[in-house]
Order: sequence, then structure tokens, then C-alpha cells
Amino acid sequence: MKKIIVSALSLSMLLLLSQCSPKFYEPSAANVSASASLEDLNKGKALLLDKCGSCHGPPSPKKHDSAGWNSTLDKMQPKAKISDAERALIFKYLNSEKI
Ligand code: HEC
Repeated sequence: MKKIIVSALSLSMLLLLSQCSPKFYEPSAANVSASASLEDLNKGKALLLDKCGSCHGPPSPKKHDSAGWNSTLDKMQPKAKISDAERALIFKYLNSEKI
């Protein structure tokens, strides 16, 4: 019985931890700005997970600031074979996380 309680507790701790710092945030109204609608951000997230994960796993938005993402995307756009419109959506998602 004690074992069950302990494992239930550690399971809920794990769940809590993973909810505190998800690697890929879920876009919400708090992330929306004049240049990035909720729809843009949801599309950008889906594109990031779809197009940027085949070679090295999709990168966390926390990795770079906007200048850094711009130069990384200069290198990665041809590798991922994405259009300028897709790149723009991914860029919006990468730069709209509120920390
Ligand atoms: C065809 C394979 C491939 C795809 C697809 C790809 N990458 Fe990369 N990526 C690489 C390689 C190879 C490196 C390491 C060499 C380098 O830095 O140029 C790398 C390095 C990186 C790095 C670490 C270097 C840095 O600038 O921080 C990031 C971040 C990154 N990629 C993001 C992305 C994003 C975002 C996408 C989607 C738009 C993407 N990658 C798609 C192959 C790929």
C-alpha cells in the first residue's frame, strides 16, 4: 500500500515538473502580438515540430533571441526546404514565448 502511494506521488511530481517547463510552449492569448496571431503561432509550432526535427530534433525556442533565430534560420531554411512564408511562421513561434 505504502509503495503504491509513493509511486503515485512521484508520478504526480513528474507530471507537475513537466507542466512547469514544457520544451514547446502551447500558444495562448498571452503570446499573441500585433505581428503574430494565435493562428500564426499554432501553425509555426506545428511547422517547427514537422520540419525541424528530422535531422536533430526540433530546437527549443529558448535557445536563441530573435537575432540568433534569424541567422540560424538563414542556415536551416535551405536544409528544411521550407518556403519564406513557412519560415516566417516558425520564426514567430520561436520568438513569442513569454518567459
Ligand atoms: C536536413 C537536415 C536539417 C534540417 C531539416 C534542419 N536542420 Fe538544423 N541543423 C542541421 C545541421 C547539420 C546542423 C549543424 C550544423 C550547423 O550548425 O550548420 C544544424 C544545427 C541547428 C541548430 C544549432 C545551431 C544554431 O544555430 O543554434 C539549430 C538551433 C537548428 N539547426 C535549428 C533548425 C530549425 C529551426 C530547423 C527548421 C527550420 C532545422 N534546424 C532543420 C541540419 C538540419
